[in-house]
Amino acid sequence: MTSLDSKEWALKSRPVGMPQPSDFEMREVPVPAPEEGEIQVRNSWMSVDPYMRGRMIDRESYVPPFQIGETLQGGAVGRVTASRHPDYEEGDLVSSMAGWREAWTAKPESVAARKLPEAGLPEEAFLGVAGMPGLTAYAGILRIGELKEGDTVFVSGAAGAVGSVVCQIAKIRNCTVIGSAGGPEKCDFVNSLGVDHVIDYKQAGGFDGLVAALREAAPKGIDVYFDNVGGDHLAAAIEVARPFARMAICGMISQYNNTQPAPGPHNIIMVVGKQLKLQGFIVSSHTDMQPQFVSDMASWISSGQLKYEETVREGIENAPEAFIGLFEGANKGKMLVRLS
Ligand SMILES: NC(=O)c1ccc[n+]([C@@H]2O[C@H](COP(=O)([O-])OP(=O)(O)OC[C@H]3O[C@@H](n4cnc5c(N)ncnc54)[C@H](OP(=O)(O)O)[C@@H]3O)[C@@H](O)[C@H]2O)c1
Repeated sequence: MTSLDSKEWALKSRPVGMPQPSDFEMREVPVPAPEEGEIQVRNSWMSVDPYMRGRMIDRESYVPPFQIGETLQGGAVGRVTASRHPDYEEGDLVSSMAGWREAWTAKPESVAARKLPEAGLPEEAFLGVAGMPGLTAYAGILRIGELKEGDTVFVSGAAGAVGSVVCQIAKIRNCTVIGSAGGPEKCDFVNSLGVDHVIDYKQAGGFDGLVAALREAAPKGIDVYFDNVGGDHLAAAIEVARPFARMAICGMISQYNNTQPAPGPHNIIMVVGKQLKLQGFIVSSHTDMQPQFVSDMASWISSGQLKYEETVREGIENAPEAFIGLFEGANKGKMLVRLS
């Protein structure tokens, strides 16, 4: 058993507004051979996700903040290169939260590592469609959005990892789907997912434009809104919601880099008169759905009913750029970094 060298990223400073490359610091560290109960893993892929921006702020939340100078964490998949753990063998495919680094040695439970099935999917799919973002889409639209056949569904962030899966699940359930995304190329991609209407929110230009586009796409209003974006999108969804519409509040990426608190939707009072249900959720509270999720995803992907897209940056050096790209709309589908 040998030690490896690994490049890894730490947070150098807490971003103010849009994260900058100078907020990150790369270093090279030795990765020792495992001791009793440990495994050594070489990561092949790492994930960058919008929620990591929240962990860069020093505040209490559902996950603790990253500390300055500590190696960043996040989803990763890789292969065991050495093991002194009874449940792991060299060559096993594992997912873990030990991302932002090329290799690591640790007790599996200390980095939420688990063995992955050789399921006929590419490894990196476990960071996207078959992993956390996929389950977020699945639990969010089916359980929180209480999706029913024939619903009219509005999905913001529709070209992204979560949104693109939400759109397709809603189509599989015979719903009318309206997706919004930024720019013509993104909108073409959303169209290719089989949705009924696409709104270019950048062209729509704010609340009034979004409402007009939604009224055109859904003259009778919407039954479900899946919110990835917040801000004008949420206000527009409230404006065009039918009575008793459900809103699955998954994220509000338009606000993650704000330096001042954003005002709430100006029309929030409509929630009362229309008797709307708005519910936030965190994917980790819905792991009970994992077996059904895996089974449905496997069948939808193999039958061609559900497609997935990835945007790949090459090499650990480009991890901060990949992360920052999430806030610039640089990705179609899941944003990933290939490490080996
Ligand atoms: N609740 C949970 O458990 C959970 C789990 C995973 C993800 N999430 C949330 O789900 C959302 C989507 O996550 P994801 O991983 O699928 O990311 P993603 O959608 O693949 O990537 C982020 C996308 O957000 C869009 N965006 C960036 N800034 C924006 C802005 N100011 N206004 C509107 N759109 C903007 C960009 O697309 P355009 O080019 O179209 O603007 C960008 O490509 C995020 O809000 C995330 O925090 C929540």
